[in-house]
Amino acid sequence: VADPRPRKSFSLLAQPLDRAAFVAYLLGAVVPLAALAWVVARWVRPERLGEAARWGLLGLLISIAVLSLGAFLVLRQTAQAALGRLDRDNRRLQHLLEASGSLAAAADDDEILRLAASSAAEVAEAAAGFVVGPVRRGGFDVLAAYPAGEVRAARRAAIFAAAESAAETLRPGILAEEGGDPAALAVAVPFHPGNLGGGGLVVAHDTKRPFDDSETQALATLSSLARVALRNAELREAERNFFTHATNLLVATLDRYLEDRSDHSRRVASLANRIGRELELPESRLERLHFAALLHDIGMLRVPRQHVTDLEEVRRHAELGDEMLRPIRIWEDLAPLVRHHHEWFDGSGYPDRLAGEAIPLESRIIGVAEAFDAMTSERSYKPAVSIALALERLEAGSGSQFDPAVIRAMLSLDRQNALG
Ligand SMILES: [Fe+2]
Repeated sequence: VADPRPRKSFSLLAQPLDRAAFVAYLLGAVVPLAALAWVVARWVRPERLGEAARWGLLGLLISIAVLSLGAFLVLRQTAQAALGRLDRDNRRLQHLLEASGSLAAAADDDEILRLAASSAAEVAEAAAGFVVGPVRRGGFDVLAAYPAGEVRAARRAAIFAAAESAAETLRPGILAEEGGDPAALAVAVPFHPGNLGGGGLVVAHDTKRPFDDSETQALATLSSLARVALRNAELREAERNFFTHATNLLVATLDRYLEDRSDHSRRVASLANRIGRELELPESRLERLHFAALLHDIGMLRVPRQHVTDLEEVRRHAELGDEMLRPIRIWEDLAPLVRHHHEWFDGSGYPDRLAGEAIPLESRIIGVAEAFDAMTSERSYKPAVSIALALERLEAGSGSQFDPAVIRAMLSLDRQNALG
């Protein structure tokens, strides 16, 4: 597998360092040597020396020159090696920082495992990265691979062995694959990819290469980051599950309480969602709109049953819904949307007589969806009206009771036959 990532050179640092070393060599060795040669030529007259002494002097000058040149080359090589290590550590740190950001933003477990595999390959500058872990049917399997695709048999054996060793000893497992072509070396650090037990975060090289401590440390850090990301995804999922089921429970309770208008909340939520999409709301706002629409009349649960036909009592449901939702952390941002769903666009609604843009858009949408559903569904005290008549009445209220933009969205949905 070819490595698709370009290797950055350390020339930026190396060039000034090369120049500095060369200047130091010139000033510390070449100039004094030249001065010495000049002094010898000027003051120690060659004709005063014997033949042997003359050759001796020349040899001395040449050996000093060779030694100083050698010292310069050794210094240059040592400095470049140190810079190479520094540069690689910097790149590794950069990859870890990037991985930390993308792991935190990952949507689900599969994406986290894929990111862990690709980041492992990047951090270790390896040909391939894998997440290996136990599976339900027993044994280990590759849960994510970078690059994606089938893992060849020889490499499979090496990464499984390295992962098993890491999972068992909770230390890095480093393994050389014998007889492979080309020989590969795999290194694994312990990693818990799920609830089935320990596995490993593994990288593999195409050519045999020793692994240093900083590489395994970086992989171990990546393993911890991915573990935290998995845990956070689990918590988010649990919160979402609770949110959805608790909302459903409340909606079912409300439906039982107001038998006459059962399923009103679900129909309003569904229509509000279609209007929201027509108005091109982003996905996150559509989700809030959906839950606010489901819960918009929840305040009715606090209106005594004998008063559910008393208009003054019923008008309190918007405020009561706000009071019920506000203290509950997962619902507090829905509370204002519920509170204002009976405000009028011209400011003559309730409970706060807000007008125009001051009314949250979600509340304006719920207001229209609720009015439409109330008109088009049959109640014990009144028959249903047709969609055409309901739309006519909505249009008549555009600008006074309803937001004209929301009414335009309703008419556009009607043209698409999406109101049936
Ligand atoms: Fe309402």
